[in-house]
Amino acid sequence: MKAVVYHGPRDVRVEDVPDPKIEKPTDAIVRITSTNICGSDLHMYEGRTDFEPGRVFGHENVGEVVEVGNAVEKVKVGDMISAPFNVSCGHCSNCERGLTNYCERANSPGIAGAAYGFADMGPWQGGQAEYLRVPWADFDALRLPEDARERQNDYVMLSDIFPTGWHATEMAGLSPGETCVIYGGGPVGLMAALSATLKSASQVFVVDRHPDRLKLAEEIGAIPIDRSQGDPVQQVKDRTNGIGADCGCECVGYQAHDQEGNEDNSATLNALVQSVKFTGRIGTVGVFIPQDPGAPNDLAKQGKAAFDVGWHWFKGQSMGHGQCPVKRYNRYLRSLIHEGKCKPSWIVSHELPLEQAAEGYKNFDARERGWTKVVLKPQMKAA
Ligand SMILES: NC(=O)c1ccc[n+]([C@@H]2O[C@H](COP(=O)([O-])OP(=O)(O)OC[C@H]3O[C@@H](n4cnc5c(N)ncnc54)[C@H](O)[C@@H]3O)[C@@H](O)[C@H]2O)c1
Ligand SMILES: [Zn+2]
Ligand SMILES: [Zn+2]
Repeated sequence: MKAVVYHGPRDVRVEDVPDPKIEKPTDAIVRITSTNICGSDLHMYEGRTDFEPGRVFGHENVGEVVEVGNAVEKVKVGDMISAPFNVSCGHCSNCERGLTNYCERANSPGIAGAAYGFADMGPWQGGQAEYLRVPWADFDALRLPEDARERQNDYVMLSDIFPTGWHATEMAGLSPGETCVIYGGGPVGLMAALSATLKSASQVFVVDRHPDRLKLAEEIGAIPIDRSQGDPVQQVKDRTNGIGADCGCECVGYQAHDQEGNEDNSATLNALVQSVKFTGRIGTVGVFIPQDPGAPNDLAKQGKAAFDVGWHWFKGQSMGHGQCPVKRYNRYLRSLIHEGKCKPSWIVSHELPLEQAAEGYKNFDARERGWTKVVLKPQMKAA
């Protein structure tokens, strides 16, 4: 089959790789119909992780089940499914508690949490390919309703960014009527904004500097904060009686940039501490990693950041971190899509055949204007 293979920094190629096979009776094989490029892929694409050359990217996958192992009872051939980016067994002590983001069996011993096509997240191949092996299929695969094929660009957001944005607002403890400030207007920040809006936040601020991303935030009723026009903290305070927002979401991660445009892994964390009120909560879904040899300074190379713990403590704030447990939310977010309560596909800017993945990566990585979310379609023919 064809798949998007990583060769080295900023070098991906669509190549032939072996077809996935049923390896355990609990596996399913899925023909991928839509698979997104994610901001998480970009950390790997830029060579800022130890993702191994030769491996296949892709953790935001939708497709049709074409084969199931003998022990798979619920999922049937022909079902359209969404595969959560977390690979999880369903019956370890973390999975039992709903912490499928930290499954103890899907990665190497001593490391909890696994994902498709992801650095340090287990051996699983990615779904930017014609086919994907989904382990523990009865547990992991979410079956999609009859409108799955025509509304794929909505449902494809269920494997990662819609639940992840929702999770940011959950960790931020957002209640109806509260204000929420979101750093990052990429796909994840925009999904956090959609989630905050669905949860009836009174004001949702989205901080970024890209006009196309800020415009998408505005389209769902969020308030764009253009940080190229001045200190975003001050802009948020000016709109919240000088107090700051009730809660905040970090949707950028360790490759955040400071106001001068230099990479600074503490930039958004510290801006959030200042933009959120005393006692406010912050949900951090942007990725931070334990080692970052490509970082611009020694502290960051060791996965550390000059975090403003003094103000964070003084303000009595709290913060939640980590990968999103997609299964906690995806069933319910599926219903919101199916019942027409939201349309997360509003951020999709490009649908490309798999063959054009390299072009998608290049433009999305450059945050080229108008390239807000790329969905790869393995069955689409190249133009
Ligand atoms: N925790 C999870 O489960 C999970 C899941 C998916 C993605 N992620 C992570 O979420 C992060 C965002 O993903 P994405 O797809 O939206 O990525 P993206 O790179 O497309 O978007 C990031 C945005 O942040 C903006 N930005 C940079 N510095 C900023 C600053 N100081 N203030 C405000 N905005 C700033 C950029 O302009 C960009 O628009 C990534 O780190 C990704 O790996 C985490
Ligand atoms: Zn993703
Ligand atoms: Zn598990």
